[in-house]
Amino acid sequence: MNHLTKDWEAKMKNCFLSVSVSVFFWAILFGGILPAAVPGDYLGYKECIFCHDENGNAWQKTQHARAFEGLKKMPQERLSGCLTCHVTGYGKPGGFVSFESTPELINVQCEECHGTGKSHAANPGEKGSITAKPEETKCLGCHTPRQDPKFDYATKSKLVHPKQVSKP
Ligand code: HEC
Ligand code: HEC
Ligand code: HEC
Ligand code: HEC
Repeated sequence: MNHLTKDWEAKMKNCFLSVSVSVFFWAILFGGILPAAVPGDYLGYKECIFCHDENGNAWQKTQHARAFEGLKKMPQERLSGCLTCHVTGYGKPGGFVSFESTPELINVQCEECHGTGKSHAANPGEKGSITAKPEETKCLGCHTPRQDPKFDYATKSKLVHPKQVSKP
């Protein structure tokens, strides 16, 4: 715990948003004594990037990180039909509600594929706290035959994190 805390302090010098910082301190310092995080809670990608900067930066260069752009000109009444595939956690507990109330959950973020991260962030070493390798079925929920008839998992999964690194 101690050496990890030091790592984070060092990282913090690289000027992270104070919001992320405080969330992490709560997670790190009190993760062990507070009740387990509510399942189904979304953190948002900034929290993940705090500890996974390489995968995170790689993701930010992909279309998933811009998936909301194409929706901005959509009239409000047609927008809800697009959200399940273009934002994070739409209709799920703690997930995207609207651009106004949950702007931090626009786009197709980490937690759409890896699952919600609250309990993982509190106990990163805990096996199974997060999905290590999201499977094809995950992708097919959005890459439907209608939206993406030529979807090929083997090829496209390599493009999700262009410069894949396996550990933080
Ligand atoms: C407080 C730091 C921290 C935060 C926040 C964090 N992680 Fe992690 N994560 C880790 C560490 C440390 C490991 C390595 C654990 C190990 O090897 O046992 C890890 C492992 C992983 C793995 C690999 C799991 C495996 O079984 O191999 C994935 C995927 C992952 N994290 C995704 C995420 C996502 C997505 C988020 C945001 C929702 C996130 N992490 C937030 C520290 C963090
Ligand atoms: C079932 C999931 C799903 C729904 C619902 C959905 N999309 Fe998409 N959308 C995708 C996927 C997957 C891609 C990427 C397709 C590809 O890789 O060829 C995509 C791509 C796009 C793009 C990228 C530009 C392009 O190349 O076409 C835009 C813009 C877009 N969608 C807008 C919308 C709008 C607007 C709606 C609602 C009217 C919507 N989408 C509903 C899954 C969805
Ligand atoms: C569109 C789905 C998707 C999104 C979004 C996504 N990932 Fe991944 N991630 C994957 C897939 C698939 C793999 C496995 C890739 C492989 O094995 O080649 C992976 C692998 C990883 C790994 C390595 C796990 C291991 O131990 O090998 C980490 C860490 C990770 N992702 C973190 C993140 C973080 C952090 C974000 C957001 C900033 C994110 N991912 C966004 C699908 C996704
Ligand atoms: C929540 C819905 C969602 C999930 C889950 C999802 N995607 Fe996507 N994906 C999208 C959307 C939407 C776009 C298009 C974004 C845009 O351009 O507006 C896209 C675009 C892409 C692209 C870039 C365009 C292309 O088709 O080459 C790749 C590659 C991709 N996704 C791979 C994957 C893989 C692999 C998985 C599973 C590990 C996955 N996606 C899971 C919604 C999703």
